Order: sequence, then structure tokens, then C-alpha cells
Amino acid sequence: AVRRDLLGRELLITAGGTREDLDPVRFLANHSSGKQGWALAHAALVRGARVRLAAANVDLETPPGAQRLDVGSAAELAELVAEHRGQVDALVMAAAVADFTAADRADSKIKKDDGDEDSVPAIALRRTQDILRHSVLDRAERGGARPAIVGFAAETGGEGGSALDLARAKARRKGADLLVFNDITGGVFGAADNSVRVLDREGEEVSHTSGSKTAVAHAVLDELLPHLPEVP
Ligand code: C5P
Repeated sequence: AVRRDLLGRELLITAGGTREDLDPVRFLANHSSGKQGWALAHAALVRGARVRLAAANVDLETPPGAQRLDVGSAAELAELVAEHRGQVDALVMAAAVADFTAADRADSKIKKDDGDEDSVPAIALRRTQDILRHSVLDRAERGGARPAIVGFAAETGGEGGSALDLARAKARRKGADLLVFNDITGGVFGAADNSVRVLDREGEEVSHTSGSKTAVAHAVLDELLPHLPEVP
């Protein structure tokens, strides 16, 4: 039976991966397909929500009923989220947002030096805005509980610790209501299935789901419910 437990609710879901132009032909991107964000949008719609779907370079058909808002770069996504987050009950940041962008985008194609086979261009990068962190701080400044905020963390682990340890630290640092941790050591990009642990803002695990991206989406929405602002 379908639970219509999001009836009357409005969600902003970000999906896909941003692209940062280096010059007119090249960009920095990532492997995000948008499938998990899409699954979240589908699941939320089935449960009765209205969905604004911020899509960063996603090559998938728009879920029927969703309001699709296309963006390219991290800066465009930041602007869109800033514009919409005050109008929704929840912000679900499933998009893979670039952490770095070109310090100065070249107006013409960066050329290789044909006279020197060993030369490579140095491409200067700068940090992008952490949209999730920014949204948490913006909500705190307004002093409200709206919107509920869900972040995602794809970790491989490494010198900083195990993937789970890194995600727990991130949950505490970002301050979102929930952080969905995805262990990508085995590779999930573009896959139909996923395995996630939902962490609270203290980094404690509140649920663990392995299965289709649809199953994961419903598990995330289940955990989101108690964090939704009270209906006025
Ligand atoms: O720090 P990290 O990139 O691992 O955090 C992942 C989470 O933060 C995701 O929810 C992603 O959408 C969000 N994020 C963001 N702005 C960035 C980088 C990541 O909102 N510049």
C-alpha cells in the first residue's frame, strides 16, 4: 500500500553532477548519474509530495509531476537552491557538487604548446560554495526548523580513516538533520542498486538499507518524516 505521508509537503531535491567549465570546450565533472536523486523524486511524488527537482546535467526523463529546474555549474545550483530553499519543507541534496571550479575560465580554448612536448598548462582552481553547509547556516540565521535538510556523502575511505568514520565526522561537521552515507569503495555510479547508512547530526546511524535506489529513497524519506517542520 502506498503511504501518502508527504501529502501537502514540498521538497527541493538536487540530483546529478555539476560541471565546471575550464574553457569553451572542456569541463571538470564527476560520475554522478542522477539516478538516486531521480529515485528520491519518484518516491516523494508517490507519497504525495510536490517536488522541485534541481537537475545538474542529468540525462533521464523528468519524473511526471516534478518541476524540473536544470542547472550546469555549482554556482548555478547554489543560486537556485538559495532562491528555493525558503519555500520548501525539505531540501534533499543528492547532487554531487564540484568542490573546486576554475579560478578563471579561459575565454578561448586552452592550447597545448606544439613547440614543447613536455609542457602542460597549470589550471588554477578555487573552492566552490558548500551549498549544504550554507543552507544549514542560513536556516540557523532565520531561527527556524524549515526546511529540513538532508545531505549525502560518498566516501571511499583512505588515510583520513574508514569510509564510515569519514561520513560520521562529516555528519557532525555539516549539521544537516540527516546525512546519507554511501560507501563507494565498491563503485555505485550509474548502478541500479545502492547501499546506504542514514546518520543523524551526531553521526549516529539511524538506518541501514541495501537494495534498489527506490528502496533507498523510501528509507531516506522514512527518516526525513520526523524532521519535517510542523504544518502551520
Ligand atoms: O563535502 P562533500 O562534498 O562530501 O559533501 C557532500 C554533500 O554536500 C552532498 O549532499 C552535496 O550535495 C553537498 N555539497 C554541497 N556543496 C558543495 C559540495 C557538496 O552542497 N560544494
